[in-house]
Amino acid sequence: MAIAMSLLVASLFLFSASSSSSSSAAAADSKSNPADELVDALNKNRTAHKSSTLFDNPGLACVALQYIKAYQGRCDEVGPNGKKPADADFAETFAPNCGVQASTLAPITGRLLGCQSKYVDASEAFSGILVQNSRSLDIIYNKNHTEVGAAVSGSDGGSPYFWCILFSGGSRNSSFVLDGGVAKAQHPGCFSGTNDDCNGAVVHYQGILWVTVAGVFIAVASAFGL
Ligand SMILES: *[C@@H]1O[C@H](CO)[C@@H](O)[C@H](O)[C@H]1NC(C)=O
Ligand SMILES: *[C@@H]1O[C@H](CO)[C@@H](O)[C@H](O)[C@H]1NC(C)=O
Ligand SMILES: *[C@@H]1O[C@H](CO)[C@@H](O)[C@H](O)[C@H]1NC(C)=O
Repeated sequence: MAIAMSLLVASLFLFSASSSSSSSAAAADSKSNPADELVDALNKNRTAHKSSTLFDNPGLACVALQYIKAYQGRCDEVGPNGKKPADADFAETFAPNCGVQASTLAPITGRLLGCQSKYVDASEAFSGILVQNSRSLDIIYNKNHTEVGAAVSGSDGGSPYFWCILFSGGSRNSSFVLDGGVAKAQHPGCFSGTNDDCNGAVVHYQGILWVTVAGVFIAVASAFGL
């Protein structure tokens, strides 16, 4: 039933996107990527704090999705006492997997990672999962950030869901540069900065999620910052 509903919603969405003008189709595209929405929520929050808007760098965002994948779906390893990918992984694994040119990697000036069993939309993930305390806000408002990349992904078969924001102090034109300007294909999951429609890659699994949630609701929620 839930699966049928999401298929129906998906086809209605496709219909409305294809039948509208190209400018509103573009707006619909950016609305259907939860990682882009996460960057929007972040930049609105920074603007409200009179901090600058950060450039959404697709190369950095693809690296954020790789960062999520390094946890291999293990929510229990997210948090202050959990595991953290080694710094060397950025150059040795994350960048090559994305097609980011190694010589263009810039320092990571902050990171936020959260995970839970239930899928929520980007603004709820931002406020309820990634922002845990004043330390998270210090990370968000840090003056050394110039750019950002966000990623959202389920794990094999759906739950648990991960949300990641990586910040960097690199310059927007010369850091996290992608070979040929396009990231290598990434599945599952969505990353920001490309204006790609990426609704299905995460939300596709919600039908299965509902069944899981009805059976056992595992309240695993944690987040951490640098
Ligand atoms: C930024 O978002 C957090 C979490 O929702 C909120 O607590 C904080 O007040 C927001 N900051 C501003 C300046 O709106
Ligand atoms: C910004 O970067 C400088 C130089 O690396 C560092 O000393 C400073 O603590 C950073 N500022 C913040 C707010 O993290
Ligand atoms: C960055 O790229 C944009 C668009 O390609 C260009 O307008 C801008 O001048 C560049 N900035 C720097 C600092 O190179």
